[in-house]
Amino acid sequence: MSGYNLQVKTAGFNYRVLIEENGLSRVGKSLRLLFPSTRTLLISDRTVYNLYGEVVLQSLVEQGWQVEVLSIEPGEQSKTLDQAARLYDAAVEAGLDRNSPVIALGGGVPGDLAGFVAATYLRGVPLVMLPTSLLAQVDSSVGGKVAVNHPRGKNLIGAIYPPGIVIIDPLVLKSLPGDQFQAGLAEVLKYGIVVDSSFFYWLEKHIIELLKAEPSALAGAISGSVKAKAAVVEQDEYENNYRRVLNFGHTIGHALEAATNYNYYLHGEAVLIGMFAAVDMAETLAVLNDKQGGRIRNLLDQILLKKPPAGLTAEAVIDKLRQDKKRREDDLIFVLPKEIGEAAIMPVNDRVLIKEVIENYLNKH
Ligand code: GLY
Repeated sequence: MSGYNLQVKTAGFNYRVLIEENGLSRVGKSLRLLFPSTRTLLISDRTVYNLYGEVVLQSLVEQGWQVEVLSIEPGEQSKTLDQAARLYDAAVEAGLDRNSPVIALGGGVPGDLAGFVAATYLRGVPLVMLPTSLLAQVDSSVGGKVAVNHPRGKNLIGAIYPPGIVIIDPLVLKSLPGDQFQAGLAEVLKYGIVVDSSFFYWLEKHIIELLKAEPSALAGAISGSVKAKAAVVEQDEYENNYRRVLNFGHTIGHALEAATNYNYYLHGEAVLIGMFAAVDMAETLAVLNDKQGGRIRNLLDQILLKKPPAGLTAEAVIDKLRQDKKRREDDLIFVLPKEIGEAAIMPVNDRVLIKEVIENYLNKH
């Protein structure tokens, strides 16, 4: 497989996204060329560190880096200000200066947390993303969203703080559990549906290879996703408007996650259900024609749909929708596909329709 060397260029930042097999064993060298420092803080979670920590550490040490390592407990409960405080202590202990990178090795949780620390320590030190889940590779490692949670809501405390470099090793996906892989694929399909029609057609052609995790298809899907995300972020880094297309499937997806206390659905599983619901809505509201809607559904159908938990009601989901932080006054904002590769960001007030599309999912099982 040949690798990909992509660029993300926004008004204030310009960074590379490298997609290459065994990229983790070359991290030390890539960073040596970029940052005039000898010190770094490597942040990971225990599960990922046990698998890949040694490879990254060795590549850093070989290139003369002095590395302080901090492993957090895996899981969303680690994304707190208390954990960030521990990491600031470690950054002080490690003697990081303004040029010393903070490295995030892992999925969305280490990425968001380490990113938040990098954004704030010394008013900002370089951030290096080494994403190891498919979701982190195609979404959270690119675009600069970093955050910790507040007891009242996910990602309530955060910043837009772009990384200095992202290094993606597709081979690490071999150790990713199957449900997480499928959930990550849902976000890959999202880019084809609402951002890039030619990527959508590519995905239609390669979905079977992708589901088998064939390496060249995987690298193509990661690169297509990163290119699509970069195109959106380059236009609207601070999510004033267009970047909200990336929330396709997320309005109902977030409500499903919240209604099940964030412990039933993986993020991508809930987003997949939300994408089906948004396609149903777009067709009913005549934003999308049935032919294109059918084609989108066929692609989404390739990914396993998670059944609802016993007892989940449309009312419970709607209740959480109302608390969605993207709510504008009384309107709920949805991202609805208009045609393959393009979406409308629009308020939807039709409560009967919203209930109907949620029930479509709940009654399927
Ligand atoms: N995950 C959506 C975004 O980065 O905007």
